[in-house]
Amino acid sequence: MRRPLVAGNWKMHGSRESVAALVAGLPQVRLEVDVAVFPPYVYIPQVLEALADSAIGVGAQNVSEQRQGAYTGEIAADMLRDIGCRYVIVGHSERRSLYGESDQQVADKFIAAGTEGLIPILCVGETLVQREQGETLAVIARQLDAVIAAAGLEAVCAAVIAYEPVWAIGTGKTATAEQAQQVHWAIRQRLGATGENTRLLYGGSVKAANAAELFAQPDIDGALVGGASLDSAEFGEICKLA
Ligand code: 13P
Repeated sequence: MRRPLVAGNWKMHGSRESVAALVAGLPQVRLEVDVAVFPPYVYIPQVLEALADSAIGVGAQNVSEQRQGAYTGEIAADMLRDIGCRYVIVGHSERRSLYGESDQQVADKFIAAGTEGLIPILCVGETLVQREQGETLAVIARQLDAVIAAAGLEAVCAAVIAYEPVWAIGTGKTATAEQAQQVHWAIRQRLGATGENTRLLYGGSVKAANAAELFAQPDIDGALVGGASLDSAEFGEICKLA
């Protein structure tokens, strides 16, 4: 049985005040569902402190592939573990497209996170052009295989994988439940028997209104929520549906 996970990626939003309000409104977590939030780096300590007595996990949106040293502006995985993070997102499409992260760099970040005992949430997803050209499954396989080749199948299966079609992120266009399920099924096939218990999240314009249909799919085990996770009531509704 896979335990659903609902993750809120706050991206580059917030202030001390709005973060305090958002955290105060987060749902009480039910025993059978995992919930995690991903604030901007500088607010992680504030959120960890506010959630100290809660089952809600906290993670970072990015991590350096380097362990330590002269890497100005970077944050290492052991620093995240040191302050109490449990998860880290790697390979988000915004990192890949806006900051030029390659499949290899994503794989290195995945390994850095795993080495420190953080649970990586590995993001994969195709652009609209790639979907229209029928390349969706090939793109997902390439992104996944780069990490499997570097980190090993077992490590990838022990992590969380998020399928986020780039064209559905922040656009209000969700993949239909069938489109999402098709890709999730393909990912599950690629992982084979080792991946039976791997949690596969869907991300891309998830809201309370479309979450139930997505969660009803056999290979969708939760969501990576962007915009809707900035509204605690909406995020709470999504968590209830998981
Ligand atoms: P939206 O839910 O805002 O589309 O963002 C999805 C996402 O990128 C989560 O990581």
